[in-house]
Parts: sequence; C-alpha cells; structure tokens
Amino acid sequence: MSPTDILARGPIGVFDSGYGGLTILRQIRQLMPQYDYLYLGDNARAPYGSHSFEVIYEYTLQAVEALFHKGCPLVILACNTASAKALRTIQQKDLARLDATRRVLGVIRPTVEAVCGLTVTRHVGLLATVGTVNSGSYEMEIHKMDPGIQVTGQACPMWVPLVENFEYDSPGADYFVQKRIEGIMRRDPEIDTLILGCTHYPLLMEKIVKYVPQGVRIVPQGEYVARKLADYLQRHPDMEARLHRGGSVSYFTTESAEKFRESATLFMHDKDLSVERIVL
Ligand code: DGL
Repeated sequence: MSPTDILARGPIGVFDSGYGGLTILRQIRQLMPQYDYLYLGDNARAPYGSHSFEVIYEYTLQAVEALFHKGCPLVILACNTASAKALRTIQQKDLARLDATRRVLGVIRPTVEAVCGLTVTRHVGLLATVGTVNSGSYEMEIHKMDPGIQVTGQACPMWVPLVENFEYDSPGADYFVQKRIEGIMRRDPEIDTLILGCTHYPLLMEKIVKYVPQGVRIVPQGEYVARKLADYLQRHPDMEARLHRGGSVSYFTTESAEKFRESATLFMHDKDLSVERIVL
C-alpha cells in the first residue's frame, strides 16, 4: 500500500480575494473536469491590491488554512496579489507547520513560463494591481528565466473595482483602460507582449483589445495556469492520487452567499451554484 492510499482524497482548492479567480477556475475545470473543486473568495475583504504585505499574507494564510481544513490536498492561489505577496512565505515557512504533504501553488510562475517563450522583442509589459507591480515578483521570475527581458509594470488600481462593481462594460471603463494601456505603451513602445497580471482583468478584455496596439499580444493567465497544473499533476502522481474525482464544485465566500451567487453567475455562466458563507 502506498502512503497516498491511506490519505483521504479531497478537492482542489482555488482561492482569490474575490471573483477574479473564477476566470482561472473556469479554465482549470475546462481542462480537468474530472476533479472536485472548492472555490473560496474573500469577498468581504476584497480588493487586496492596495493592502500591505503583512495584511495580504495574513489573509491568504487564513484562506489556505480554511481550504486545508476543508480537505484540499492542493491549493491554487488564483490571485496574483496573493501569489506575489504571500506564496513564497507560505511555501517556505508555513507549509511544514500546517501539513508538509500538501501543496500551495500560485499563478505567476506558470504565466512567466509562457510569456518568456512568446516575446520576440524581449520587452514585456505587466498590467496588475499596485501590490503585484510593487512586489517585483514578475520581474524576478522573468529574470530567473531570461535576465535580458525588459519588464515594464503598470499598476491599474481602478480595474478590479470596475469588475467587482460590474462596470466592466460601461463607458467609464473605457477611460481607465485606455489611460493605463496608453501609459504603459508610452513608457516602452517596444513591448510586444502584455501580461494581464490580475485574474479579474479577462473580464475587461473587450475594452483592453480596443486600446492595445496591433501586433501586441495580450496574455490572460487562465489557459496557461490550467495547462501547467495538468503538467504538474502528471509529474506528481502522489498528489494526483490524492485528488477526488467527482466533477463537483462548491463555492465559499466571506460575504453573503446570496451576493456571491448573483455575481459569480456572470463569471461562471452557471445558474445553480452551491454557495456557503464562511468566516476566516
Ligand atoms: N484577482 C486578484 C489578482 O489577481 C485581484 C486582487 C485584488 O483583490 O485587488 O491580483
């Protein structure tokens, strides 16, 4: 009997500060519908983008602990801000104490691996929250793979609130999207690849494509994160063996379940979501 046979199987945990991680969950489920998933949105405390390192780390750790408690052997931080500010500390410091057999993965590394193979000019732009841009995590990961790539970061503080308040379709959204894209392209006109480094941003895609110059590639993360996760599970059969295969998804939120259900429906195109409120 292998050690994994005696461990209970569980769902994959997917965490985000709010609804943005649903864009990642959708792509992961599309590629791997066989597993069970448990989504947690810390909607009551979102957005995380402009909080300090300590606060984002503390909130993210609480979320990981809650997902472990609910039986997830593997947790994906489907949030760039949490991946940038909390992932490394959780992996290096907290995991051994919480449960060394479980894993927490982020979204930055898989995105960077894709981007480094896409850019031809080797000038990459990053559109993300203040927290993600200021953390320098994308530059660090990109430079580990290719120190010659020039990375220009542009914080887009209004974009998450536009999405969370369902204003992503409004004329007001055009103003903020145009402003940030023109800003980053002015700072480095040689950019040929733009990372959407926030899981909320795919919701603004219709506006984004309007203002991105022709020939510049836009990289949303969901597809790459999903593919890298599938690859990870293939390379880690012990972890794969711990995942429950039922095809279900349950949602947890720190805000009201009713509010989450209404909003998440727009992200997931799914009407009957099972949602429960939890306190972290
Ligand atoms: N979806 C989160 C991210 O990818 C949004 C961050 C926030 O809550 O500000 O960064």
